[in-house]
Amino acid sequence: MSIFDIEIVRMKVYVTRLIPDPGIPLLEEHFDVEVRDSEGPITKAELLEKVPGIDGLLCLLTDPVDADVIAAGTDLVCISNYAVGFNNIDVKAATEKGIIVTNTPGVLTDTTADFAFCLLMAAARRVVEADKFLRAGKFIGWDPMLMLGADIHGKTLGIVGFGKIGRGMAARARGFGMKVLYHDAYRADEADEDALGAEFASLDDIFKRSDFISLHVPLTEGTRHLIGPKELEAMKPTAILINSSRGPVVDEKALAEALKDGTIAAAGLDVFENEPKVNELLLSLPNAVLAPHIASASIATRSLMAKLAAENMIAALSGEMPKFPVNPEVLDG
Ligand code: DGY
Repeated sequence: MSIFDIEIVRMKVYVTRLIPDPGIPLLEEHFDVEVRDSEGPITKAELLEKVPGIDGLLCLLTDPVDADVIAAGTDLVCISNYAVGFNNIDVKAATEKGIIVTNTPGVLTDTTADFAFCLLMAAARRVVEADKFLRAGKFIGWDPMLMLGADIHGKTLGIVGFGKIGRGMAARARGFGMKVLYHDAYRADEADEDALGAEFASLDDIFKRSDFISLHVPLTEGTRHLIGPKELEAMKPTAILINSSRGPVVDEKALAEALKDGTIAAAGLDVFENEPKVNELLLSLPNAVLAPHIASASIATRSLMAKLAAENMIAALSGEMPKFPVNPEVLDG
């Protein structure tokens, strides 16, 4: 190399799991990219080993990016989360260190609402139980008493958390002729309420009046165990609970007991308190429809999330404001 040659040092980005195209190719146009190729979620020990010296960390909702990991990120500029939820990241610690955190909202709204409604329908009409019954060779002919479930049309849906996904759920419910109640820390505009046919209600009212209750809140200290024994007790014995938000929003043990004892009728769950572990009792109950955190898992949406997570990273490492900053004050100041 002569003294006239300029060595271009590319910034380093570590990706904790292979994500769909075009995520990695987009990053590779700009950075030196390393993608972890081990199975299962990355551990804190692995993160602590990987973050020193990297400029960008593209991580998943399962990755524990806590204050220790952030402190170890000596050169870290951006943490781009491949998810809309970011409760896996200590945003306060990142902000204090001047690290921008980004997420992927918007692109997964409809896909997630589709799946939440799918859980609602599957739980109400006992789709999973019916499938197992038939495959077990138990279907011996049409029977007036076989697999009787709950109607969906004309029933009341209580939505807890009226952000984008909660509103998507309201729009779907309208198509089924349901009455929609919602609760949120912020009341929606009258025009939005009218457009979605949604009525603001207190949580107590939602528990008391709803046939279906669907959770769409982020996980915070205020929403942890939002649904526990007392709330389950307040619901109708015919109520069906849907959770596609975050597992710890529901006290899983209390829910399993409520499903077993008939305190409520059924549940459709995409998320669990200690993923990937699931409460043993819950696993044994036919009135629980269980999915492995796949609400956003359509081919198109996962690809859009990958594109957005990569674009957020590219903007942040170029010193620009990314499209979806969680802590914009880092770059504002
Ligand atoms: C998210 O993005 O937070 C979802 O849970 C992924 O499905």
